[in-house]
Amino acid sequence: MPLVDGRIGHAASAPLLVCPLCVQKLRKAAETIQGQNVSLERANQLLRERSMAAMESLAATVDARDAYTAGHSRRVQRHALALGRQLDLSRAELDVLGYAALFHDIGKLAIPDAILLKPGALSDEEWKRMHEHAQEGARIIERLGFLHDSVPAIQHHHERWDGSGYPAGLAGDEIPLGARIIHVVDALDSMLTTRLYRAARPLDEAMLEIRTGAGAQFCPRCVDALDRVLAAERAATRDAEPTANAAELSREAMARLHAHTRAQPEAARSLRVSLSPLSQKSLNAFVEP
Ligand SMILES: [Fe+2]
Repeated sequence: MPLVDGRIGHAASAPLLVCPLCVQKLRKAAETIQGQNVSLERANQLLRERSMAAMESLAATVDARDAYTAGHSRRVQRHALALGRQLDLSRAELDVLGYAALFHDIGKLAIPDAILLKPGALSDEEWKRMHEHAQEGARIIERLGFLHDSVPAIQHHHERWDGSGYPAGLAGDEIPLGARIIHVVDALDSMLTTRLYRAARPLDEAMLEIRTGAGAQFCPRCVDALDRVLAAERAATRDAEPTANAAELSREAMARLHAHTRAQPEAARSLRVSLSPLSQKSLNAFVEP
């Protein structure tokens, strides 16, 4: 209504006098600001990439400090993601989980070798210091800024379902799901790896212990999901076996063919001619390994 009112309408439709020089200057300033924004965005992206690369090296350094834990963080990340997919986590949730799993033990950088690599049993005081790695890791990642969402899973990856873990003694669903996932795959990888103080355990034995701990140490939902992940892996391995059998069969067929052609050199020559170059190559490799 006021827009069509006489005075206001007249004022609104009055030609606006703008200085062309000012417009040019404003346009130039806008372009400069836009250019600076793009540069800042690029610098920010570069900073994130370099920080991530540095953090990944640090995670590998943590594993490398102890020969027995080499590759541990990467394996935990891989298994945590498999478990997360089994639990239907979204793409964004999987990203957060993946970073948390990769950096879950980054706080061990702050633990002295005398404790981390001690071959004997740790004293109460040393255990207390060792437990600080969860909080310390959370602090390190928090300071990075852009991995903020991964911090809770790192901070609480040693909480136990029954509330007897650390650092906060959270129980059940109070524990962030990412932390519960990392806790169970971390335990599995640890059991499957030879450590200073014990040998690696077979998968079946390790899984039996994890299933026994469901509802006490481990989140039952995560343990069920881990069972399904391992069952799927076993099924995938079984599916791959017929291929191996087929390879064996073809070796057997090749042996029979070789024996046959040795007995009938004439037939062998014509057979070789009729074979495709690839099959001829395979037969030659078999005859003259
Ligand atoms: Fe840990």
